Amino acid sequence: MDLEDAMENWSSVKKFTDEEVEREKLEKIFELTTKAPTAFNLQPYRFIVLDSEEAMEKATSSVIPVNGWIRYADKIVVLVGDEEIDVNADQVLEHKLEEGRIDEEKAENLRKMYFDYKNRDSEFMTGWLTRNTVIPATFFMLACKTHGIGSCPVRGFDQDKLSEKLDLKETERPILIFPIGYPKEEDRNWRRPGGEIFEIR
Ligand SMILES: Cc1cc2nc3c(=O)[nH]c(=O)nc-3n(C[C@H](O)[C@H](O)[C@H](O)COP(=O)(O)O)c2cc1C
Repeated sequence: MDLEDAMENWSSVKKFTDEEVEREKLEKIFELTTKAPTAFNLQPYRFIVLDSEEAMEKATSSVIPVNGWIRYADKIVVLVGDEEIDVNADQVLEHKLEEGRIDEEKAENLRKMYFDYKNRDSEFMTGWLTRNTVIPATFFMLACKTHGIGSCPVRGFDQDKLSEKLDLKETERPILIFPIGYPKEEDRNWRRPGGEIFEIR
């Protein structure tokens, strides 16, 4: 399915067949997901794929009761954002240096600037993490859809409980979870017409 069809036919999937999502397909989906933009290209996120029954239980026991259906997914993918927003700064800067796009002095200034962002207040950090994970989340869901895999973004879970169960770093926060699998049933929901969501000034 191409991207336009995937967007046109989007629906969150909450009912799945028994078919397993193949490892190669998952690898392709995550390869596409890495193409998502993030601020300064810092990519302060990662995905954890819960595949075994034991691993999935960590998510199913952390959701609010209405989300109990997630246990029937083939896998549960957890998107984690890192408050240590410069966690990948060395790699990002190394690439820029190698490509000759910056020199050492500029790299040092950038490193300091990234570091300073970490000392802002928690409201700023929440905004930063949200912005820098929802775009990768969208790339992920659309990559799934174009490869025939259904998903649904789920936020109804206890963040602290899930962090503990997944043994996340102190600076990491689970942002969204995505039950995934081959779709069994899909309900298409109403959307506002395109003309209603923008104005030209
Ligand atoms: C940020 C966010 C959080 C969501 N959380 C949940 C959730 O906790 N449980 C759930 O069943 N669906 C959840 N959804 C899915 C929405 O209910 C669904 O996308 C919406 O009803 C539109 O339906 P559609 O995606 O099938 O078009 C969430 C969606 C978003 C974007």
